Amino acid sequence: MKQQILTMLRTADGYLSGQEICEKLNVSRTTVWKIIKQLQKQGYEIEGIKNRGYRLLSTPDILTAEEIKSQMGTDSFVDQVLYFPVTDSTNIQARQCAEKEDSDRLLVVANEQTKGRGRMGRHWDSLPEENIFMSLLLKPKINPKSASMLTIIAALAVTAAIRENTDLESWIKWPNDIVINKKKVCGILTEMNSELDYIHYVIIGIGINVNTIVFPEEIAQTATSLLLESEKKQRFSRSQLLCSVMAFMKKYYEKFLETQDLSLVKEEYNQRLAGLGEQVKVLRDKTECIGISRGITKTGQLIVEYSDGSKEEIFSGEVSVRGLYGYV
Ligand code: BTN
Repeated sequence: MKQQILTMLRTADGYLSGQEICEKLNVSRTTVWKIIKQLQKQGYEIEGIKNRGYRLLSTPDILTAEEIKSQMGTDSFVDQVLYFPVTDSTNIQARQCAEKEDSDRLLVVANEQTKGRGRMGRHWDSLPEENIFMSLLLKPKINPKSASMLTIIAALAVTAAIRENTDLESWIKWPNDIVINKKKVCGILTEMNSELDYIHYVIIGIGINVNTIVFPEEIAQTATSLLLESEKKQRFSRSQLLCSVMAFMKKYYEKFLETQDLSLVKEEYNQRLAGLGEQVKVLRDKTECIGISRGITKTGQLIVEYSDGSKEEIFSGEVSVRGLYGYV
């Protein structure tokens, strides 16, 4: 009900009469009034004028399911959104949902994580109010070997959303870190539950540093946020950015499903690839090779060309690739 009223307020052309809400939702005036009060308490600035109705003036920076669903509208990528003010990890929650919920596309969002997880068992710093912590649960009917490409799809969606919502250029550090000015602004952790030839589910966990001003000392040199990179050091709306990521996810995921590989998005990905055409260091066990990054293949491997003219297609997870100078 709250979400429906929010959607009506959002899409209204001017004032929305209380009567219209009552009739559409088949509820009393008192119920409508109570919900408007609840929304105002959550930070929505709603003007109410006698004989005219209600008008939404501004929205708070919150990530509740109603806020997200009302922004996503009817054409949304996911069929369910779950919101946690605080949770251990949205990836953990998404996994629990996968076991019990009957949803093919579910989005779990949190305002704060107490056990935010990064790749390779690392911790993901997840303080409240500032950033986006979300996990997308998908059940694609694809070969498990293709699942790692979904990380690439998600990385592309995040860079596109950053471009749409800010004046910042972000780049992808293959395969799936998003960087701005050589510092990490987003990390993606994809997990899968599958049999040899059948995927039960995939969870794509995305953490975006949106409004953080101060990072913990141990990551201060390599991490950044959209706020810190913006010219005016401005805050960005997390819900708007999140919904934009989901809209681009829909676009790129559909392209991916069409071919079950990256052939339709490869060019776009390569244009966003940090260090394309530049020297990279390929770190494998204890050896180190230097080559030129030539972009990804249609299955997501990074092509590296060596000085003798030979080319190697590198699988993510197998090696680590770094630019010659610093993190990127
Ligand atoms: C990385 O190491 O770069 C991946 C970081 C992924 C962090 C996100 S935040 C939302 C989701 N829940 C988690 O616990 N981790 C992912």
